Amino acid sequence: MAVLVTGGAGYIGSHTCLELIAQGYNVVAVDNFCNSQPESITRVKELAGKSFPFYEIDVRDESALDEIFKNHDTDCIIHFAGLKAVGESVKVPLMYYNNNLLSTIALCSAMKKYNVKRLIFSSSATVYNGANEMPLTEKSLTGGCTNPYGWTKFMCEQILRDTAQSEQDWSIILLRYFNPIGAHISGMIGEDPSDTPNNLMPYISQTAIGRLKCLSVYGGDYPTNDGTGVRDYIHVDDLAKGHVSAIKYSTAHTGTEVFNLGSGVGTSVLGLITAFETASGVKIPYEIAGRRPGDIAVCYASAEKAAEILNWRAEKSIAEACADTWRWQSLNPYGFKNKL
Ligand code: NAD
Ligand code: UD1
Repeated sequence: MAVLVTGGAGYIGSHTCLELIAQGYNVVAVDNFCNSQPESITRVKELAGKSFPFYEIDVRDESALDEIFKNHDTDCIIHFAGLKAVGESVKVPLMYYNNNLLSTIALCSAMKKYNVKRLIFSSSATVYNGANEMPLTEKSLTGGCTNPYGWTKFMCEQILRDTAQSEQDWSIILLRYFNPIGAHISGMIGEDPSDTPNNLMPYISQTAIGRLKCLSVYGGDYPTNDGTGVRDYIHVDDLAKGHVSAIKYSTAHTGTEVFNLGSGVGTSVLGLITAFETASGVKIPYEIAGRRPGDIAVCYASAEKAAEILNWRAEKSIAEACADTWRWQSLNPYGFKNKL
């Protein structure tokens, strides 16, 4: 039996494929490389010390999915494939709704056809309403998303809940990630944004390596310890392990279950910059700029439910995440490409 990983060449997918193999699972991965490089799969195979089937397909392509389900005995899916750039989703919302919703629907249809009923879905803390108190629990209010990307996650969650409701034997786990950072300790795989990064950590690391000149800190007047925004950063290796814990849980449970995957600890923008400077020995040039529209001051998880039920907790520190990011960035200044 195999775990089918969609979006397996991406940032979180590649780390999760590696973790699954390390824990003895058979992996089949698919990706259309719309936001990743084939080199990522090559490196995962190298790090794992073994090969695994990989298919370049679009998850919306039902006949391509048919072939995969026919050729591989699959008992569980992890669905990472999706578009994730918030700003882009505001400019081209239909592309986001088309890709993220239709890929989820096509996948569930194929699963139903081939009687595979266990799915782990990549959701996001972005589905929580901005008015919630911190920390966010799985019962906090959702909806009121500020951008189309967030709505696609909100809508996919609903599609998946309804699917699980329709037949008793579905097991669907919605994992709401907080802010994934870091890279595999080898420095061989990591986050490789195709455009100028929107997220803080890749912006910091590309500034450190000299690809970007200066980091804008979005807002210095928030009601936080140092005035900058606070988020819950989680090492991508911990996140990968969280997926394996979710798979284990899903073997013995049906219905839909939601888990936050976060550390439960908030770190400010200046806090992350300082940690990165300490880990890398490189000074990060930054300036305090205006607030970014749609941002909230503070966002962090309650990680209790995942600890109690999945027996999973984030273990790696911010310092380790910064050291690992810097190793990845300095060994691969242009990511998986040799140059821009
Ligand atoms: P990523 O862009 O690195 O990985 C997504 C992968 O999916 C890419 O390799 C892309 O080529 C592939 N893909 C997209 N659409 C596809 C399609 N239709 N068919 C086949 N492949 C397709 O992103 P990531 O950071 O690894 O995120 C993985 C998932 O987690 C996404 O669904 C994302 O929305 C979600 N998520 C990410 C974060 C984050 O901060 N990284 C936070 C919360 C949720
Ligand atoms: C962003 C997305 C969110 C997504 C999450 C994880 C937005 C509005 N939200 O959230 O949907 O789920 O990433 O992928 O984009 N910052 C700077 N300078 C920068 C970049 C960021 O100061 O160049 C600050 C932000 O204002 C924020 C913090 O750093 O306070 C983290 O930002 P980011 O990495 O974009 O994550 P989120 O805002 O949590």
